[in-house]
Amino acid sequence: MEASTETNNKFSEEEQVVTPWEVAGNGGKIDYDKLIDRFGCQRIDQSLVQRVEKLTSQPAHVFLRRNVFFAHRDFAEILDAYEKGENFYLYTGRGPSSEALHLGHLIPFMFTKYLQEAFKVPLVIQLTDDEKFLWKNLTIEESRRLARENAKDIIACGFDVSKTFIFSDFDYVGGAFYRNMVQIGKRVTYNQVVGIFGFIGEDHIGKVSFPPVQAAPSFPSSFPHLFEGKGNLRCLIPCAIDQDPYFRMTRDVAPKIGYNKPALIESSFFPALQGETGKMSASDPNSAIYVTDSAKDIKNKVNRYAFSGGQDSIEKHRQLGANLEVDIPIKYLSFFLEDDAELEHIKKEYGAGRMLTGEVKQRLIQVLTEIVERHRTARANVTEKMVDAFMAVRPLPHMFD
Ligand code: TRP
Repeated sequence: MEASTETNNKFSEEEQVVTPWEVAGNGGKIDYDKLIDRFGCQRIDQSLVQRVEKLTSQPAHVFLRRNVFFAHRDFAEILDAYEKGENFYLYTGRGPSSEALHLGHLIPFMFTKYLQEAFKVPLVIQLTDDEKFLWKNLTIEESRRLARENAKDIIACGFDVSKTFIFSDFDYVGGAFYRNMVQIGKRVTYNQVVGIFGFIGEDHIGKVSFPPVQAAPSFPSSFPHLFEGKGNLRCLIPCAIDQDPYFRMTRDVAPKIGYNKPALIESSFFPALQGETGKMSASDPNSAIYVTDSAKDIKNKVNRYAFSGGQDSIEKHRQLGANLEVDIPIKYLSFFLEDDAELEHIKKEYGAGRMLTGEVKQRLIQVLTEIVERHRTARANVTEKMVDAFMAVRPLPHMFD
């Protein structure tokens, strides 16, 4: 049950903190089991993955197979309905706070692209330029510019323009979207947002009034040019689990205003090169691989900074093997090396000390360089005209084809 009283997200001092603006494990590593319990979401198990494979007649995405997307809310219900011939739409987003994206930023978009293709459904992507203006030290003009730049990186992930609407809050909020925001706002008390998001008395009211902006795209009536007459269309939101508070609030409100609760499929965080302590830090360029990094940057970063679970000396390593649990190259490969058999082989050899850290890093450098190069080429081919096409307020007559 999701009673509004259960949406409290503020943990005691010794505990980990996960909000849309702060991710900190208790002494480092995030405890995802605890997070599932606290938030009240459900775990994604193998049988759910198999159902997806059956319904889409293709192997599940690596992120699903390997539990990068590990939690959900009502995803099974979306699949039940889909099985009976009912459609749904996808909703995801990005807060445009930086020029260059790192690999962690791309994960929800890579996954959403797969979902769009596999289920053949429309997608709306919200660029919360307003959110970043409110939370960061950015001018309105700068956050609008970043939204457009980030849209190019998003488009480069391969979305289908005949099924995708990308919008900036500064440009799109109004009309039916605004009417939904106000409906939502009227059903959430100040005490509730304090409980859900941890706002304090000193926070400006711009922050306090933002959550309905991120909630509104969960309801199809916010997009009359797309979903006119489809008020019951279900919504599925792929996101990192730090966005859960927004959608817990949204799901509490939905039945009160006569809408379906959005379903969610949620990922863990992509760890920093230095080790698994939560999200990567924008203030430390060496903590992440950026899509703008050169092959040389990637090589240097992996070799120098990727935390190794290998032993200090070769003799010791041959004897004891690597600790795969803390090893970042293994972790990164499990996100991005698609070949299951090769990954298993590497884990076995490295864990037994027959393979050295240097060799594993070598393979990771290859895999990452390929992904980054592919992205760079795709992004270079995204024109201003294409951005305009994705962002135009227009009907999508082929969105369910
Ligand atoms: N708040 C998110 C961020 O800062 C952006 C966002 C808006 C989003 N709507 C979303 C993310 C829906 C996931 C799903 O990045």
